[in-house]
Amino acid sequence: MKMKNIFPEINEIADERLQEKVIKSLEKAIAKGGWNEEDLQMIPFTLLIPGLIEGDNLAPKITIVEHIRAVTQMCIATYDRYENLGLGDKLNRDELIAGGLLHDVGKFIEYEKDESGRIIQKIEGKLIRHPAMGLELVYEFELPILVRQAIVFHSKEGDTIPRLPEVEIIHRCDFLCYAPIKQIFDSSN
Ligand SMILES: [Fe+2]
Repeated sequence: MKMKNIFPEINEIADERLQEKVIKSLEKAIAKGGWNEEDLQMIPFTLLIPGLIEGDNLAPKITIVEHIRAVTQMCIATYDRYENLGLGDKLNRDELIAGGLLHDVGKFIEYEKDESGRIIQKIEGKLIRHPAMGLELVYEFELPILVRQAIVFHSKEGDTIPRLPEVEIIHRCDFLCYAPIKQIFDSSN
């Protein structure tokens, strides 16, 4: 499984060592979750929007891979706007992109397939949640502190923590790729 084919945004990271760490982290998460390439098309980005899956067709309308890519693309677009405002050098573009790509790395081990092929949350996912599971999973790759903060505090866990500016961007792009989508699907059901 070629991570750069699944997540082409990896190529946007200029630092090759950081690219390699991102690839290794994603590979480890997908392997540990026991997913093959076809499975990746079956993992919804959240279990909190029932409308993502319709009837007997278990393929979700928005997968975890599509969500991660959309969040990362929004982070890159946000960086570009900040650059237009003269603030490009205040942000670490590489680490912003790495954080976007890895913020939900824990989701690959938070979910599993039940006997009917439906994706469900593991007990560990309920008790610890994907941010902590993700941080624990990638410890060996010694990712920059910004990327580690993005993994563990992109979600509500970070609401009382002063997030770094790049992590604040990731958090908001993540929310943009969730809350309005939930409204859209919930209201059409
Ligand atoms: Fe996310």
